[in-house]
Amino acid sequence: MREELLHPSADPVEVAEETSLRPRRLEEFVGQPRLTEHLEIVLQAARQRGQAVDHLLFAGPPGTGKTSLAAIVAAEMDAHLRVTSGPALERAGDLAAILTNLEDGDVLFVDEIHRLPRAVEEVLYPAMEDFQLDIVIGRGPSARSIRLDLPRFTLVGATTRAGLITGPLRDRFGFVARLEYYEPEDLHTIVTRAARILGVQIDSDGAGELARRARGTPRIANRLLKRVRDYAEVRADGNVTGDIARAALEVFEVDERGLDRTDRAVLHALCVVFAGNPVGLGTLAVAVNEEPDTVEDVYEPFLMKQGLLQRTPRGRVATAGAFAHLGLSPPAGLANLFDPS
Ligand SMILES: Nc1ncnc2c1ncn2[C@@H]1O[C@H](COP(=O)(O)OP(=O)(O)OP(=O)(O)O)[C@@H](O)[C@H]1O
Ligand SMILES: [Mg+2]
Repeated sequence: MREELLHPSADPVEVAEETSLRPRRLEEFVGQPRLTEHLEIVLQAARQRGQAVDHLLFAGPPGTGKTSLAAIVAAEMDAHLRVTSGPALERAGDLAAILTNLEDGDVLFVDEIHRLPRAVEEVLYPAMEDFQLDIVIGRGPSARSIRLDLPRFTLVGATTRAGLITGPLRDRFGFVARLEYYEPEDLHTIVTRAARILGVQIDSDGAGELARRARGTPRIANRLLKRVRDYAEVRADGNVTGDIARAALEVFEVDERGLDRTDRAVLHALCVVFAGNPVGLGTLAVAVNEEPDTVEDVYEPFLMKQGLLQRTPRGRVATAGAFAHLGLSPPAGLANLFDPS
């Protein structure tokens, strides 16, 4: 369920719908007020000077608007958007080919930039800093390096793992923006807007219910809206009310705090299987049958934000709140697990 909710699916209809729901302009981008204000200033200043924008890095959980913002930057600058990703750039030559085909002012979006191979990243440093590309021609003793001038482009990087970005790369961005989980009020606005675009009738109670249970994530809010719409069409008259939303989410096993089956499996593993003891990431991932990266990127940040899970030097632990959420009483010694000594 989580995979299905979080990752752009392969279904062309869903992909088209996600695209149709993307905010196109900064003023359509809901929430994250500090970030959008800062970004607006950066863009406006570049426009006034008639220059390309400084390189930008967007860091934040999956589904919180990084790709949308990259497209918005290009639209606001009236620039072309070129899209690639860290894992797609396997060799330095892959990046060189893209860079040499850019034009002045283009926006180059590198998704999952934390997954750039080291050798490729090193090509990026002079490109970002001096708009120059060093390429080596030939091999062995006759090899020589030539330097090419690149157009003034803007690199926009996105990452779900700011911690994995190397220092030298991070330092070359003029603006590092962190996207946070969204407040329910913002998600309410996002769901209402998406419903309008998709032609779904939803009342404020229904939108509020989805907003509260969307894990602070616009993509999940929109996906929940579509699943609840299905339910409303099959089981009722198609209108999404609060009662319909609650009934549908119960069927989809999304609980009152927005936790899904895997979230609860994580808590169950920590509270019951490991009886409240600290657990390493790998062990926890095996217990819930997920990849460690997925547990770390997707589940843990939200459970931590909800105060249900903590990372300690000895491993992951459930908080008293987690035991309460599962209807259990915490073991007696729980509090001192949080003491790192
Ligand atoms: N601030 C926002 N306002 C309105 N809709 C939003 C906002 N942020 C995200 N969305 C919606 O959520 C969907 C997912 O956003 P987006 O693809 O930009 O996330 P992402 O951060 O790039 O995710 P990933 O880390 O998985 O690449 C978009 O299609 C859009 O409909
Ligand atoms: Mg994205």
